[in-house]
Amino acid sequence: MNQEQNLINLPAGDPGIWPLDPRVVFLNHGSFGSCPRPVLEYQRELRDRLERQPVQFLGRELEGLLDQARAKLAEFVGASSDNLVFVPNATSGVNTVLRSLSFKPGDELLVTDQEYNACRNALEFVAHLHGAKVVVAKVPFPCQSAGQIIESILNRVTSRTRLALLDHVTCQTALVMPIADLVRALAGRGIDTLVDGAHGPGMAPLQLDSLGAAYYTGNCHKWLCTPKSVALLYVRPDRQELIRPLSISHGANSPRTERSRFLIEFAWTGTIDPTPALSVVESIRVVGSLLPGGWPAVMSRNHQLALAGRKVLCDALNIALPCPDELVGTMASIPVPDATEIGKPTGPFITDSLQAWLLEKHDIEVPVIPWPAPPKRLLRISAQLYNSLPQYQLLAGALTES
Ligand SMILES: Cc1ncc(COP(=O)(O)O)c(C=O)c1O
Repeated sequence: MNQEQNLINLPAGDPGIWPLDPRVVFLNHGSFGSCPRPVLEYQRELRDRLERQPVQFLGRELEGLLDQARAKLAEFVGASSDNLVFVPNATSGVNTVLRSLSFKPGDELLVTDQEYNACRNALEFVAHLHGAKVVVAKVPFPCQSAGQIIESILNRVTSRTRLALLDHVTCQTALVMPIADLVRALAGRGIDTLVDGAHGPGMAPLQLDSLGAAYYTGNCHKWLCTPKSVALLYVRPDRQELIRPLSISHGANSPRTERSRFLIEFAWTGTIDPTPALSVVESIRVVGSLLPGGWPAVMSRNHQLALAGRKVLCDALNIALPCPDELVGTMASIPVPDATEIGKPTGPFITDSLQAWLLEKHDIEVPVIPWPAPPKRLLRISAQLYNSLPQYQLLAGALTES
């Protein structure tokens, strides 16, 4: 057995640090990931400190603490910390950018048919406000190559295209888009890209300054495993004056000049719990310490596990791999055959009766997602350090049970 197989056959690191229910085979880190106990403990200490002297913490210490957290996160994602602020989640990041920009009637806003529904809704909302038009590029799934994705998006560019909203990693099909090539090709045509990188940080190595996208938002509470409600918003320096928080607060008329208005405004948008953002430092440290090779090893191990897990499922179900390995990150989607019984949604995230059946009968939590093309539904696995190959074998066994 080689080293890579060793790493994916067992959970990596101490499985006891994850507060997950041991009865459930949890294969859905992509929707909502678990946060390690030491990070939750760190957050608890911050909360205690805040509540002991709230004015001291929020009024005097917070900005410096946020600066430290931004600096650590900026280093992790390859950005200058002056270009990065915290927002509560990727949905807010996308809304923040879209609602800061103005468009003219007839302007075109480019998106793919795989964009996350919430963010597509935000785009439609803003387009409607300005009389702009949403243009949709179809990205096929199954998908043959990165080139096919690039071609289908660039084919929809016109002289009226003003902005592209593109996922870094698509939600339903889990495709890792060729985002650097797309950003470059669009910039070459004078078009800014807003990257919805909800799954980016912690799944894929990032170099945001050199990526050169005008805007990138990515969750920390998914693959970085922070407490819930923290994401990053990166804005390229030449676009920072345009971008205002969703909540206009004290920063709007601050007389301070020693830092940018962009940083001042986003550092205070009203009273919120800042401890998820401040815990980013500890998440980066804790998760990166779970394998000897640090974060590169964490991302690589999870990627290998996602590939191995999807192979187990595709072999068991006798279906072809729906996309090349290079388009897979730490999640993988496969079209699930025999979709004869599509259930009515029972909640915003539970849309299929197969998903409910897998949990009820087999204690497996894995998303099953309606999909427009035959066979009309996708099953998406996630691979995090607490997962291991036998869990996907268990899922394959459940799916092939007669
Ligand atoms: C591609 C994509 N964008 C945005 C989001 C929204 O993330 P959040 O709910 O943290 O804002 C998700 C959530 O899974 C997603 O997959």
